[in-house]
Amino acid sequence: WAEDGSALWLRYASGAKAEITSKKQSPTLRIAVSELQNFWQGGIPVTLEVRNNKELRALGNEGYTIQTSKGGSQITIASSGEQGVLYGTYHLLRLQATGQLPESALQSLDISERPDYRIRILNHWDNLDGTIERGYAGHSLWKWDELPSVVSPRYEVYARANASIGINATVINNVNASPKILSNDYLQKVKVLADVFRPYGLKIYLSINFSSPAALGGLSTSDPLNKEVINWWKQKAKEIYSLIPDFGGFLVKANSEGQPGPCDYGRTHAEGANMLADVLRPYHGIVMWRAFVYSPTDSDRAKQAYLEFEPLDGKFRDNVIVQIKNGPIDFQPREPFSPLFGAMKKTAVMPEFQITQEYLGFSNHLAFLAPMWKECLDSDTYLQGKGSTIARVTDGSLFPHPLTAISGVANIGDDTNWCGHPFAQANWYAFGRLAWKHSLSSEQIGNEWLKQTFLPVTGAQIDTPAGEVIQKEQIDAELSFLNSQVLQKSREAVVDYMMPLGLHHIFAWGHHYGPEPWCDIPDARPDWLPPYYHRADNMGIGFDRSSTGSNATGQYHSPLCEQLDNVNTCPENLLLWFHHVPWNHQMKSGRTLWTELCYAYDRGVNEVRNFQKVWDRMEPYIDFERFRDVQHRLKIQARDAVWWRDACLLYFQQFSRQPIPYELERPI
Ligand code: GCU
Repeated sequence: WAEDGSALWLRYASGAKAEITSKKQSPTLRIAVSELQNFWQGGIPVTLEVRNNKELRALGNEGYTIQTSKGGSQITIASSGEQGVLYGTYHLLRLQATGQLPESALQSLDISERPDYRIRILNHWDNLDGTIERGYAGHSLWKWDELPSVVSPRYEVYARANASIGINATVINNVNASPKILSNDYLQKVKVLADVFRPYGLKIYLSINFSSPAALGGLSTSDPLNKEVINWWKQKAKEIYSLIPDFGGFLVKANSEGQPGPCDYGRTHAEGANMLADVLRPYHGIVMWRAFVYSPTDSDRAKQAYLEFEPLDGKFRDNVIVQIKNGPIDFQPREPFSPLFGAMKKTAVMPEFQITQEYLGFSNHLAFLAPMWKECLDSDTYLQGKGSTIARVTDGSLFPHPLTAISGVANIGDDTNWCGHPFAQANWYAFGRLAWKHSLSSEQIGNEWLKQTFLPVTGAQIDTPAGEVIQKEQIDAELSFLNSQVLQKSREAVVDYMMPLGLHHIFAWGHHYGPEPWCDIPDARPDWLPPYYHRADNMGIGFDRSSTGSNATGQYHSPLCEQLDNVNTCPENLLLWFHHVPWNHQMKSGRTLWTELCYAYDRGVNEVRNFQKVWDRMEPYIDFERFRDVQHRLKIQARDAVWWRDACLLYFQQFSRQPIPYELERPI
């Protein structure tokens, strides 16, 4: 049997006829009703209710309860908003698809949920010419040349997939934004997408180019304090909202990597953001202002966003939220958290994760990213003492900001299977689930996704082409094994074979795929040239960001600051991020740093080989097309892992001048 991955995790079997009722009617509720009519197999009638009582109000209009009535004759999904009813519907179908609704559970459902973040948003880096910056799953989903007249059916499938995991917002164009997106022609196209997305509770936002007033409007300046400029934005906002009354707002990359911004006119980031925030306020729109700023010629890129934004705390309007990448540099396989999460008490801040695998093997490598995002969310900033985790700094529990949000750079394209690697879908899924509830474990999310993605949807058993009969329970058990042995270990494996122990940014200039710690391309950006990030020399390796070096450790609060600052207490998985360490430094394992580095690289390679073995063992349980696809990509990953290990060790060996331990595999 073959599947092409196009159904994502929504591979529901047809429902068994049960009564589905909703007193209220609306486009959103009609979707909920039809999903249950089509796919609910529980036999018990389901009632959908939008009602207003104290309990439901406390859950908000996206929260919901799912309860079985006494006697077990009926299930009620209730919310104070219709969106909550739709989310509750998908929750029930998820329980069904993951085998969590045996008779006993069905009789006693008592679920109550509310999202941790108000805005759970995808950032598409899609260009208007159909290409995707850092996209590895084909071209853009948005067919700009066909819109507004031709409406691809995939737009609705996309909205439904997002609704099924609680994603309620999307920025559809690249942060490196073309001013053209705000032209009336394009806004007419955007409006059509917004209309398709609306019943699924998915709001549209746009990335804007800060110099649009000049570039698109023909003004002589885009100075945010200039009256004509402000007026231009006001007119533009009016035009947008007349087409899209529930438009979400703007995402802005300003004065970053060559993009225009307020600093071009001697204004601060806050002045730029506030001007736009004031323009959007009458419509309840918001501004997500990115903090991804750096100058590659400065001595330590990791410190710069903090230096620029920390002094602006308290200077932003309350409908501005500062969007911060998880780490201080740029979506590396492992970074410490950005110290900016611990710097702002009066300004709302939101995490930006990267779902697309720009620095994690594109769509060739299997890397499940829930562990990476949880590592960030669970990190303690100590901003208000112990327990000030990034999750709590950003979800509104530490500071009562009215705005809370979390974003993920999408990995979605027009490939049949949406995300390129069949397992890359798991990262879209995981982002949505964590944005809804950041306390979910990576194990649970991995299991949920695997079961929905691979379990046969009908019958209690399958007949394999080889004539065997396999029980669904057995497949279930194998998928759990796959979860623990592959999904949960995959991100750490990538760290090991690419850049262990806190190494970072030794990617090839240009494509960000393979290794190039030796980069010698004369026109590469200054920070890309060695030894900028790895600082390898005959003494040792690593970037001294301690108090004896760039003092980036000083941007963290005590006691973390002291912990990171001391080479003996700094976590070893970040050692070379914060310290320049002698090759013979003794590690916790008793090995020297050089030997440990060799072991880490080698471990990464062996992990991938083990992934291959575990996957091959899945052959009887997985449909042919997806089995072969993943098997093929794992071969590429295994070869790439060897490439990384050998290239990096042979390069660094010039400095360490020590042998690779005899018990490890030789470079090939
Ligand atoms: C990275 C990425 C760019 C992107 C940038 C950003 O540097 O390589 O393609 O534009 O991040 O987040 O703005």
